[in-house]
Amino acid sequence: MQLPFLQLRSKSVIGLDIGSSSVKAVEVVPRGNGFELLHLGVAPLPHDAIVEGAFLNASAIADAIREAIAKSGSKAKHAAAAVSGHSVIVKKISVPAMTAAELEESIRWEAEQYIPFDVNEVNLDFEILQAGDAERPMEVLLVAAKKDLIDDYVNLISEAGLTPSVIDVAGFAVENAFETNYGANPNQVIAIVNIGAQTSTINVLAGGVPAFTRDVASGGNQYTAEIQRALSVAFDEAERIKIGERGPESQDVVPQEVEQAMRAVTNNLVGEIARSLDFFSATAADMRIQRVYLAGGSSRVSGLEAAFKERTGLEVELMNPLARMMPSSRFESDFLDQVGPSLGVGIGLAMRKVDES
Ligand SMILES: Nc1ncnc2c1ncn2[C@@H]1O[C@H](COP(=O)(O)OP(=O)(O)OP(=O)(O)O)[C@@H](O)[C@H]1O
Ligand SMILES: [Mg+2]
Repeated sequence: MQLPFLQLRSKSVIGLDIGSSSVKAVEVVPRGNGFELLHLGVAPLPHDAIVEGAFLNASAIADAIREAIAKSGSKAKHAAAAVSGHSVIVKKISVPAMTAAELEESIRWEAEQYIPFDVNEVNLDFEILQAGDAERPMEVLLVAAKKDLIDDYVNLISEAGLTPSVIDVAGFAVENAFETNYGANPNQVIAIVNIGAQTSTINVLAGGVPAFTRDVASGGNQYTAEIQRALSVAFDEAERIKIGERGPESQDVVPQEVEQAMRAVTNNLVGEIARSLDFFSATAADMRIQRVYLAGGSSRVSGLEAAFKERTGLEVELMNPLARMMPSSRFESDFLDQVGPSLGVGIGLAMRKVDES
């Protein structure tokens, strides 16, 4: 997908994934018949800096952007970022056959009936999926994002000292990372499920074209909250316990309680995502999902892949956003193993520059 809302040409662009748990800064360059991961920096965010997509603590986020870039060592002055959530609408629509220029003229009017916001308050973009003719309408992928949301990103990135040159949609960025690493198969219907800290994003791709997109407001924080509740510990402590680090306060932790809490959340999360996939299958009877790729930091929860397989009966695989990225020797392999799963959006954004060159 090539649908950024904003695109300026520039030499080096850093992909900035502003997630609710951390900012990931990624720069890649083409190398041989693959790519080299040139710069990578990750900076944690306080867990209440971004809540339900809202920037509640913009200066903490700007600090984390600066920190991620400093850690990455990148000298890029331009950034590509991605928006997601309820203020972003991605929809396949049918319109009477017309030229791209005519569609450009009329898209605002066409869009009005499909988006739940005032059409004057959104940025619009589109891609023609299938040209129509006298008998058949034209198929168009309509993308709308609230101007307020885009302004928030532009302001934040500027505050961090960078020029925002691409604002993409997070789901498209993950798809881009997928296709870079796994190729685009014109005959395959796959689902990519990116499970972050606050949000899980579901994207069904049919032959490389988005067929269904949905964000669910569940992710890794649910595990943390459940451990907090079960053990009466603070968020940061529960987070450490979740990822298998034991802090000084958790000497007496009963592993069964943690395991039980984790299992309960996995069941809920898998159920919620599976219901979205069921909904897609029920509404698109001509398409059958062949494989599910799990991405995002929370795809590392042990047993998640198996639970997903069991609930859906589908082939499930973990997506590795770095599969075709040659890492610069500066990176420790432990570090890459740890952060790799959460780099789908960042790699996809970093590719925006490579795609253009
Ligand atoms: N080894 C691990 N086991 C379990 N969970 C993990 C592990 N490593 C990271 N996580 C979880 O992954 C989540 C972070 O993933 P990611 O970086 O994809 O999210 P994000 O982009 O910051 O959040 P969001 O996209 O929801 O705003 C956190 O909830 C973190 O606890
Ligand atoms: Mg994320």
